[in-house]
Amino acid sequence: MIAQLENLLHSREADSDGIYGGMPMVCTAQSAEIELRERVAAECYDNYLAALSASHSIPVMDHEVDRFLATIPRGGLILDVGGCWGWHWRRIAQTRPDVGVLIVDFVRSNLPHARNVLGSLVGHQVGLMHADATALPFTIDENFAGFDGIWTVQTFQHIPDFGKAVSEACRVLKSGGVFANYSLNVQPHIRWLRRLLGRGYLTKGWVEGSFWLARASDDQKESIAATFGSTVSERWSEILYSPELRFTAPGRPGSVFGKLDALLSNNAGFLGWFARQRSFHCQKP
Ligand SMILES: C[S@@+](CC[C@H](N)C(=O)[O-])C[C@H]1O[C@@H](n2cnc3c(N)ncnc32)[C@H](O)[C@@H]1O
Repeated sequence: MIAQLENLLHSREADSDGIYGGMPMVCTAQSAEIELRERVAAECYDNYLAALSASHSIPVMDHEVDRFLATIPRGGLILDVGGCWGWHWRRIAQTRPDVGVLIVDFVRSNLPHARNVLGSLVGHQVGLMHADATALPFTIDENFAGFDGIWTVQTFQHIPDFGKAVSEACRVLKSGGVFANYSLNVQPHIRWLRRLLGRGYLTKGWVEGSFWLARASDDQKESIAATFGSTVSERWSEILYSPELRFTAPGRPGSVFGKLDALLSNNAGFLGWFARQRSFHCQKP
């Protein structure tokens, strides 16, 4: 196992399937979400990327992962919070063979799917842990200095106590480490279209009987800036990709539209109105 990951995990016991338990779990407010996601995880998938491209753009996120990896120091360790099926890291042996990734998710049954997607990377460059984002099971002391990067995609948007998730991320990030949080953006054109069709558009609140959703907002940006004590930059991505308009073809692996979409992702707000994702990025001082 890669050194930093080995150092973090060597004193912990993995279950027989190689997944680490990271108690405590405190996500009672999200119990309906856990049940929902367990039902999704109970399905069999013969093509993970095809299934994922219904709700994430593979080419765009591959591009974002590569940008993030470029900021990680040699031999660095990344924590992916709410990493689910782990697909962001499937190319890491080629792109950054020196980097380790620990994926945590509070739905344990997602993690065997991550093992299917990542194969022999698990136990070498990647570790899988069942844990809650609001109570990360890591102590920062002389044995563990923290992670070099925290990556989290469309996860904090589902955590009702957003501030707690941010403060936990900050606590376990090394000084100089980088934080990236991707959430669904508020898209005015989709909101108007849905209203025209007599349908609702949730910006912040509970989807009945299901999950909490808080789309990216200036309040979140301020909360991240205050917690980390640093400047937060923004980024807009998934500009062409739109499951809401049933335009998911650019999300498929190898899609030419998807590659163009990846190039349209930007920090300047260009086409930000159309972007499906808005992300916040900062470095811990
Ligand atoms: C929309 S999915 C995104 C998954 C993945 N990041 C991706 O990009 O494909 C949200 C994930 O966050 C996980 N999650 C939500 N709340 C969490 C929490 N409090 N602690 C840990 N994981 C959480 C869910 O189980 C789910 O796997």
